[in-house]
Amino acid sequence: MPREQGGICAEGNLHGLYLMFNASEGAEVGLPRVIAGIAAWLQASADRNADCAFNGFIAVGANYWDSLYSEARPAELAPFPQFEAEDRLAPSQPVDLFVHIRSDRLDVNHVAATEVCRRLTGLAELVEEVRGFRYLDNRDLTGFVDGTENPVGPGRREVALVGSEDPAFAGGSYIHTQRYVHNMAMWEQQSLKTQEDTIGRSKMDNVEYPSEAKPMFAHIKRTNLKHPDGRSMEILRQSMPYGNMQEQGLFFISCCKTPGHFTAQLKSMVVGEHGHFDHLLKYTQAVTGAAYFAPSLDFLERSAG
Ligand code: HEM
Repeated sequence: MPREQGGICAEGNLHGLYLMFNASEGAEVGLPRVIAGIAAWLQASADRNADCAFNGFIAVGANYWDSLYSEARPAELAPFPQFEAEDRLAPSQPVDLFVHIRSDRLDVNHVAATEVCRRLTGLAELVEEVRGFRYLDNRDLTGFVDGTENPVGPGRREVALVGSEDPAFAGGSYIHTQRYVHNMAMWEQQSLKTQEDTIGRSKMDNVEYPSEAKPMFAHIKRTNLKHPDGRSMEILRQSMPYGNMQEQGLFFISCCKTPGHFTAQLKSMVVGEHGHFDHLLKYTQAVTGAAYFAPSLDFLERSAG
């Protein structure tokens, strides 16, 4: 199996730093080598900074892929699936490069981000930077524990990494990101019962509602989906809370061996079925949405030119 970029399946950290870049005109000639260099540098940094569990990955935007690697494309790579229903919108805002940096030290993340920006100088322009943080015991800013039903152990790689079904891209991962802005004032006005019904779990002790008590509009009802043969549509969520006193929310990140699971879950949240949509969307709004592929280290080395 080709070596994957370490940050894709990494366990959670205290701090995240996310950089989004758009490539400059003509940069496609030099970028494959620089991207391979960044991925290798992030990997070497993980070894050097094991004490703070540093990890990272770099991913290429679905709309930009062909400009860099015209000879081959991951079988299912597609633009971000924008959905809209009534006043609910999950927008698509394509970005060319996504760099995911995480560790338990803010300063180590800052050093890494500085190095990434230095390497991309003249080749790509930074269009957005988001700094994520662990909130309490892995909670979203709504106060609910986030990530409970994520795959664990070897299951993380099984869910997140492309396997033998697409051999040229094995060890890679389909990445979707969305920056959500929470309406905290409105959320905090809701009763505990309304909040718990909205998620489908209890707030303090994080217990899942029994299935007969789970409302059709509950977030986990809308996102816990199955294939027709009964297999779960799993994704690996690497999201983190972010923000300041002016704007705050969740930087949502999905890593998966196929983009289909995220797409089906997002559709079920926004469009829903039989009039049932995800009531979490009454209190939070996605303001960005982008699709990427994070190739294996071997693919990046081979394509460096
Ligand atoms: C579960 C929060 C967006 C997919 C959960 C849980 C929380 C949560 C608190 C329950 C605990 C857990 O299992 O992690 C949020 C917030 C979001 C958000 C605050 C945005 C503001 C999304 C999106 C997707 C998604 C956009 C996919 C399109 C899932 C899945 C589960 C889950 C698959 C596990 C369901 C289960 O099997 O029980 N989320 N989420 N979430 N969420 Fe989200």
